[in-house]
Amino acid sequence: MKISKKLQEWVDDCEKLCKPDKVVWCDGSKKQLDELANELIKKGTFQKLNESKRPNSYYAKSDPNDVARVEDRTYICSKNKEDAGPTNNWMDPAEMKKILHGLFDGCMKGRTMYVIPYSMGPLGSNIAHIGVEISDSPYVVLNMAIMTRVGEKVLDVLGDGEFVPCLHSVGFPLTDGKQDVTWPCNETKYIVHFPEEKSIWSYGSGYGGNALLGKKCFALRIASVMAKEQGWLAEHMLIVGITSPQGVKKYVAAAFPSACGKTNLAMLTPTLPGWKVETVGDDIAWMKFGEDGRLYAINPEYGFFGVAPGTSDKTNPNAMASMKENAIFTNVALTDDGDVWWEGMTDEKPAHLTDWHGKDWTPASDKPSSHPNSRFTAPASQCPVIDPDWENPKGVPISAILFGGRRATTVPLVTESLSWQHGVYLGSAVSSEMTAAAAGTVGQLRHDPFAMLPFCGYHMGDYFGHWMEVGKKTDASKLPKIFYVNWFRKDENGKFIWPGYGDNIRVLKWVFERLDGSGKADDKPFGKVPSKGALDVSGLGIPEEKLSGLFDISKEEGLAEVKEMREYYKKFGDKLPKELVTELDELEKRYSS
Ligand code: OXD
Ligand code: MN
Repeated sequence: MKISKKLQEWVDDCEKLCKPDKVVWCDGSKKQLDELANELIKKGTFQKLNESKRPNSYYAKSDPNDVARVEDRTYICSKNKEDAGPTNNWMDPAEMKKILHGLFDGCMKGRTMYVIPYSMGPLGSNIAHIGVEISDSPYVVLNMAIMTRVGEKVLDVLGDGEFVPCLHSVGFPLTDGKQDVTWPCNETKYIVHFPEEKSIWSYGSGYGGNALLGKKCFALRIASVMAKEQGWLAEHMLIVGITSPQGVKKYVAAAFPSACGKTNLAMLTPTLPGWKVETVGDDIAWMKFGEDGRLYAINPEYGFFGVAPGTSDKTNPNAMASMKENAIFTNVALTDDGDVWWEGMTDEKPAHLTDWHGKDWTPASDKPSSHPNSRFTAPASQCPVIDPDWENPKGVPISAILFGGRRATTVPLVTESLSWQHGVYLGSAVSSEMTAAAAGTVGQLRHDPFAMLPFCGYHMGDYFGHWMEVGKKTDASKLPKIFYVNWFRKDENGKFIWPGYGDNIRVLKWVFERLDGSGKADDKPFGKVPSKGALDVSGLGIPEEKLSGLFDISKEEGLAEVKEMREYYKKFGDKLPKELVTELDELEKRYSS
């Protein structure tokens, strides 16, 4: 393996600090990955699933205290507090380094330190970037090998170039005869980003975005800083290709908060005949301007780390097919014949399961069998509708951007922005009911601008400003059109009005038609909505009065939003772009006229 001096020095420093028994470089070979999986089986961390049902797949259950991203333990340690902004936890970098050095000193004793070179994005793409994760968790290595491109081939591309160093430990040294456990972790957790240095240190958790450092830590928090510095976008967005019955194809990116259906939209099976949806990515988009002045997006990831509960052959058959083999399942339930199950997978519940705590479970049990943030890790290449250009190093040209959240009231099914600037306002105004993807209060409404609240690596006011700047970099006609969607509006009986899932193609169709100029829209104070008859609702049987309820914001609700947003914006002080205040003033005027 070709290892640059800089990389070797960093690895040596980490070894000196963490004091592992040995160091293993991950070459990305199947042989090495299989050996690791077998070690995890011996330790009891992994259980091999029934080979005839789910080939080459594994099951793991975590410590019940390590099940989600820990936002309150996540830090952006910029030199100046002001640069982290009001939405991030901050600590002085020198002070934080002192704490981390204390925690990492000897933290890998009795363990192996794995060095994982990985690429976010197709190898060699000029939109892609390289990271190297050091971890003492073989579970992390195996997940990283699905979620990113790893190994020797990455080092070949890296040469002497720049990489983002990512140091991870579960914080469970095997000292003084301490016995290992199946899911080592530590009560003390720190997920720390140094944006100037572009480095990541993560301690104490082995789960998801806390530990698979290519995903949220690099591809969003650190990459958002790189993107601001270099004039591109790193976003919490899925990417899909949509082909009309006439054979015209357009790519759309969409930002939704965690566990709000990005994976389902990314793999949607259209209910309208002749339409086709293909997946480029389900969680993250990196977008840079091409020579033609358009934004081109890549999916920096190589796999899906999807929420399992609710995923089924009905809601997302493509996700189900993606995880048919070569997959890892964490915190779901085990069936008696060695396969996996979770709430919503089948209408009929199995008569007996082993739940995510390892306990007997029957339909009479009062708790779900799987944790609400239980996950599947599956190779993107296994998705039956993966886009032919998903690994195109140039990326795919983006024609529209959707923002959305989980909102039971107020927010219409679909709204088209009046301009890029108004679209940035809509992105800044995203609020959503919280889900189990993060530790916290499920169901509570919170502002989640651009679905980036937990993932923006710098001051959110500067981030809004960066979006404004991006809009000035090219002709308005070349910019993606911005829309706001909400699949989750409920009626007075608390029932979802919109069927969602495959029927969301109806909304995508209207978006598509707006892009090519054929779709009809009406002006409302808050934006443009489909004219009567412009949204294809054929065969849905939604009564007219319910349908119109999907597209309205009353004057009172609208003015209340203006007031609430003015209050919210105060948080960002003088970093708030003036254009956003103008947008609020204009919105207020439109409601009042
Ligand atoms: C995710 C998340 O895992 O957003 O994608 O939490
Ligand atoms: Mn996500």
